Amino acid sequence: MNQSSNYIPPELLNEIRAQNDIAEVISECGIPLRAAGKEYSALCPFHEEQKPSFSVSPEKQIFYCFGCNSGGNVISFLQKHEGMSFIEAVERLAQRVGISLPSQDGKSREKSRKRLELQDVNRFAMAHFHRQLLTPQIGGNALAYLKKRGVKDETISHFQLGYATRGRQDLFKTAAKADFSVQQLIDAGLIKKDEHGSIDRFRGRIIFPILDERGAPVGFGGRALSEETLPKYLNSPTTSLYDKSKTLYNLYHARQAIQKAGKAILVEGYFDAIMPYQAGVKHVVASLGTAFSESHASLLNRFAEETVIVYDGDAAGFQATLRGLHILLKKGLRVRIALLPRGEDPDQFIQSQGLDAFNQLCNSAMNLIEFQIQRASQQDAIRRIDVKTHTVKEIALTLSHITSNVELNEYISYAAQELNIERDVLLKELQRLGVKANRSSQVRPPSQYAGKASLKPRESIEWQLIESLIQSPNLIPCVKEKFRYQDFTHPDFAIIAQMLWDGCKSDDPLDVQGLIDTCENEKIKGTISNALLQRKISPNLKVRVEGCLKKLREFLLRDVERERRSTALTQGDNNIETLAELVELSNRRRHFVH
Ligand code: CTP
Ligand code: MN
Repeated sequence: MNQSSNYIPPELLNEIRAQNDIAEVISECGIPLRAAGKEYSALCPFHEEQKPSFSVSPEKQIFYCFGCNSGGNVISFLQKHEGMSFIEAVERLAQRVGISLPSQDGKSREKSRKRLELQDVNRFAMAHFHRQLLTPQIGGNALAYLKKRGVKDETISHFQLGYATRGRQDLFKTAAKADFSVQQLIDAGLIKKDEHGSIDRFRGRIIFPILDERGAPVGFGGRALSEETLPKYLNSPTTSLYDKSKTLYNLYHARQAIQKAGKAILVEGYFDAIMPYQAGVKHVVASLGTAFSESHASLLNRFAEETVIVYDGDAAGFQATLRGLHILLKKGLRVRIALLPRGEDPDQFIQSQGLDAFNQLCNSAMNLIEFQIQRASQQDAIRRIDVKTHTVKEIALTLSHITSNVELNEYISYAAQELNIERDVLLKELQRLGVKANRSSQVRPPSQYAGKASLKPRESIEWQLIESLIQSPNLIPCVKEKFRYQDFTHPDFAIIAQMLWDGCKSDDPLDVQGLIDTCENEKIKGTISNALLQRKISPNLKVRVEGCLKKLREFLLRDVERERRSTALTQGDNNIETLAELVELSNRRRHFVH
């Protein structure tokens, strides 16, 4: 859910959308639209193309690109095109038509006042540290250190790098003079109390201001000037503004480049982001030594679907990230891994090998499963039977998190080949984990959902159903009674169905525009827009929906039969699992035997 819904009532959002015509707004963003029937078409601003496949419907107030599957409403367009957050886009649109946004309720007003206050403190400290760095008598050594590491003047100013002097209260006193209170400085994590009173947290360190994705300073990192001083890096504590598991260094500067490139490059440290950025790799962000988290992933997912992790394979941070990989897979995020030479980091690599080598490294990144399989198959010990058994189990566990059947089968074949085992060995292991994969070794190329051509027959019917329901949301309540969203086999359709089912809780008709507003997954947004833009295929959607339901139930019944048979076969194997399966089966049957 977007933070927006906290304080902008849906009626007002409707009003803002209604008054901002999508075609006008898109034209104002410098994209020439050409009339094509009831719609407009243009060259897509989100991917390179020769022929226009970008379509804008003034009637539905939706845009959709048939080439890259990006789509959404007028708010989504601004978010994507201008790299704005949802709230920023809404504010811009409200301003454009002279609507004023409501003030928030007491509690959240107090909260955002506090946030702004802390941002002010941080902004003050950031400017102070930066000034110190550029004052030769004060920051001379620090500046020399940065120069020695290859950081250019313009980079220093771009990232507002700074220097915290060594005195106990240098920042504290300056800030006090500017009327910031002790409590504010403590809340911002800039000073702490010790037995002698208030003391600056950062002393004698190079300062890296950390901005959130909207450019507000939320925290700082400080690097010691000598290798003897410990810790090497000191960071802001968790504050109401700063949570390291939810913050990515440089995201603010990188976000537009990330959208353009369709991916983000993820590194570990400050210098690892700054030096590639200086060399021209603008779509780079840093996780600042912490493991790449689920929150990091969803943050990045707002700007691109894919993340390329560039780590030293032996680094602790990388090991931690690997452990979190299952979560990422489960969320359907695409992650690839580029391994640096042992002991090197991106900062050193780009300085010694240059920009081209760095780009090449990123382009040759492996996806997570390929990576895990390669790693395993390269171990000498893989010839030992116990090691192989263990590896198979581990890989099966990873595979069990893949939601798309096509992809799953692809990887089963790949893993079987690399590990030199029969597909059946993996299939059995997967079955033990409750995953039913296709027995046939026939595989189709992995497909991002991009239209009917790439769908299996069953998925095709699911798409017809989804498409009809989005065009005619009044049919949802009835379908919801008869069909569970979990029973869609295409992962994207299951997600959309869940949104539709959940969106129809009350008697009000589902508001598809509102659905687009609350959806943070770009691919899903695109697919919903695609469904909206399809011409009415059937004059009677109700009949069409009934037809789809009938066919999908047949597929389900076949599933049940198959499961029942295999349950009977494995009975006695594991009683608890069997019991659970039977319960699940009867649940399902209850849902569609009407
Ligand atoms: N880090 C930290 N605290 C530490 C060590 C590291 O917060 N005591 C974080 C910093 O964000 C750092 C990142 O982890 O940038 C990577 O750590 P490391 O590889 O040790 O440092 P580098 O970034 O290579 O720093 P430098 O090049 O300055 O040595
Ligand atoms: Mn380094």
